[in-house]
Amino acid sequence: MKFSKRTSYIDISGIRRMFELSKGEGTINLGLGEPDFPIPLESKEAVRQALDADFTHYTPGKGIIELREGIVKKLKRNGISTDSEEIIVTSGASEALEIALLTLVDSGDEVIIPDPGFVSYAPLTRIAGGVPVSFEVKEDSSFEFDPAAIGEKITDRTKAIILNSPGNPTGSVSSKKAVKEIAGLADDHGVYVISDEVYDEIIYEGEHYSIGRYTDMAITINSFSKTYAMTGLRLGYLQAKLEVVEEIFKIHQYVQASTCSLSQAAALAALTSESDYTSGMVKTLGKRRNLIVDLLNEIEGIRCLKPGGAFYVFPNTAELGKSAELAMSILKNTGVIVTPGTAFGKGGEGFIRLSYATSEENIIEGLKRISEYLNIYMEQTIRGKGGYLK
Ligand SMILES: Cc1ncc(COP(=O)(O)O)c(C=O)c1O
Repeated sequence: MKFSKRTSYIDISGIRRMFELSKGEGTINLGLGEPDFPIPLESKEAVRQALDADFTHYTPGKGIIELREGIVKKLKRNGISTDSEEIIVTSGASEALEIALLTLVDSGDEVIIPDPGFVSYAPLTRIAGGVPVSFEVKEDSSFEFDPAAIGEKITDRTKAIILNSPGNPTGSVSSKKAVKEIAGLADDHGVYVISDEVYDEIIYEGEHYSIGRYTDMAITINSFSKTYAMTGLRLGYLQAKLEVVEEIFKIHQYVQASTCSLSQAAALAALTSESDYTSGMVKTLGKRRNLIVDLLNEIEGIRCLKPGGAFYVFPNTAELGKSAELAMSILKNTGVIVTPGTAFGKGGEGFIRLSYATSEENIIEGLKRISEYLNIYMEQTIRGKGGYLK
């Protein structure tokens, strides 16, 4: 065999597939997982200054100390008591997820993941040689993670549980009670909880509870990608107890050495700024959330819950057919990109994901096109009993 088995176990993500199909002019992209905001002004200035000062060499492997100290303060606000040695600055939450899994998982070990859940969890588990075991995330419980459903999946091969609140693709926010119960499971069974908290500050209702407050078995992962719209600067971090971090660091030093110095300067400026950058962004996103939920619920055949966090809606479209076919026909007939729910696992069948991290104009125009198209479709099929989605 020419390539490793590893790559044969994984596939190109469903999100990327939709992008590749969408080169046409006039396309409206409701598939994007990134805020359409520029990074904070302070960060732009910090990068310019860092460049002028030739701050362009390797940094310490765990990241510059000022940034790690800023991260410690931020995590303290989330109730996690830690210090700068327990932090590794990574190339996005993506690297953090990968090196955490590579550190915990041996061949055949199990990792419990949400379904539907973020696209990387299953492939990264497989890349590490592990077996993803999914627990159901259900619409009728507002897509909240159910500790009992997670508990049922724990076996003596379980190494980790992946938690994600606020969650992608559903935007659901875990309650304090659920987070505490999951922490209890981790302690009782001696399994780690990899807590992906990249949307912790993008929250409209309820409060964010970091599981690291309640258990030493937590590996907390976060990112500058969403909070400061720095997706292209590829910067995130992880935090855990020192003995865990030292093991994870062995992998980080070989795959990454250190992260981009200029990105670290940008992140430091954002973290230490007095401006209310993120709360301003969340206010705008909150208005868009209300708009998109209302517009979706006006469409026959669609039912959409109002999510408490992140910047996605995950409407039920089961009446309109299979998710992948629906997403494809919406793209072909309207030029609007949405993501099929099945890109996030089997449990996403009957749903599509739309991102509202785009302008109000795009949301209004995109939903107008989808609504008009689906009206015609309903006429031809369900109401008219003939024809199929083309
Ligand atoms: C839940 C979740 N985790 C991790 C990531 C990856 O973030 P990063 O850009 O920091 O690698 C994303 C990006 O979409 C995400 O939605």
